Amino acid sequence: MDSIFDQVHERRHTDSQKWQKYEGQDILPMWVADMDFKAPEPVLQALRERIDHGIFGYARPEPSATEAVIEMLELNYRWKVDPDWLVWLPGLVVGLNIASRAFANEGEAILTNTPIYPPFLLGPRFQNRSVVKAPMALDGDRWVIDWEAIEAAVDENVKLFFFCNPHNPCARVFEEDELKEVAAFCQRHDLTLCSDEIHCELLLDGRRHTPIASLSDDLNDRSFTFIAPSKTYNLAGLGCSIAIIPNPALRNRFISASRGIMAEVNNLGYVACEAAYRDGGPWREELLDYLGKNRDLIHEFASEHLPEAGLYEHEATYLSWVDVSALGLKDPVAYFESHGIGLSDGSFFDSPSHVRLNFGCPRSTLEEGLKRLRNAFEALR
Ligand SMILES: Cc1ncc(COP(=O)(O)O)c(C=O)c1O
Repeated sequence: MDSIFDQVHERRHTDSQKWQKYEGQDILPMWVADMDFKAPEPVLQALRERIDHGIFGYARPEPSATEAVIEMLELNYRWKVDPDWLVWLPGLVVGLNIASRAFANEGEAILTNTPIYPPFLLGPRFQNRSVVKAPMALDGDRWVIDWEAIEAAVDENVKLFFFCNPHNPCARVFEEDELKEVAAFCQRHDLTLCSDEIHCELLLDGRRHTPIASLSDDLNDRSFTFIAPSKTYNLAGLGCSIAIIPNPALRNRFISASRGIMAEVNNLGYVACEAAYRDGGPWREELLDYLGKNRDLIHEFASEHLPEAGLYEHEATYLSWVDVSALGLKDPVAYFESHGIGLSDGSFFDSPSHVRLNFGCPRSTLEEGLKRLRNAFEALR
């Protein structure tokens, strides 16, 4: 065993949504976005100490937790964030729903690029706001924003832009010139910008993330950014995420829209977040190396054994977006399940011709998943 990430952990009967879905069936779960890895040891140690204290009353972050977030943002992205800008949330899905209520009135619209992480579409709908979809385009095998489509889609009824960078599911890391175009677009149409950057610490091949809000004063005023340690350090079940809202007027609107309906972050979430951002760096470096190799394995395997599958340039995240339209299947997910592999359904992302494969798992698990995929593809030839 070369890496801690090679270790296979039993996740059945550990309240895992991912593994419960196929309980009792021989279907390898490679769908919802958490990883089959243990969190970094410094995080586990901080949690053990907190649990040993034994009292779990109503929580509020210690100043040291806020400092850990702010130091991480400055160290990694040279982004200077004021402690007052942070709004702690029990999850970013909640954040997307609150933002829909806060920055668009009922009947007004929220714009997003499709395909997209499903709560970008569902959040507005749950809050009686409409969604305007602007499809992304392909530049070779790389997804890009289609500026003609997005300009054609926007109108005066659109108040808010839900932007995802790095993009789930397209695995793109938008570069500074693309971000500047997003900035100019929002200014031109006077849109509030929600930049969901939850995957920003999962950039592969040494790429660098730029927080869009750090680019200009105008953006600092009209945008807010979502981050969380949950994807990177595998802490989703602890429910601790953060909205960074520099403009006090926007921040007050967001907080007002959340009053009485948003649960607080729990004690363990704060503790894990602080430890992850302070001491998780070396673990994350190893993780990125491992994920990069998993990504490479998928691409090599697909070019040899799954020639019908369409893959794209993959710059970030542990989520692979796969075009399976060439197989002509009515229900791709059900078909792959019948061959023992559980994938995410592209229809929820507004693209029924695709499936999403989660490769945040030990290499041996991924190899087994790929073997099952090959059998599924071969059965159709
Ligand atoms: C882009 C994006 N935003 C938000 C979330 C979920 O965040 P949370 O677990 O904090 O609700 C995910 C989870 O996969 C995601 O991919």
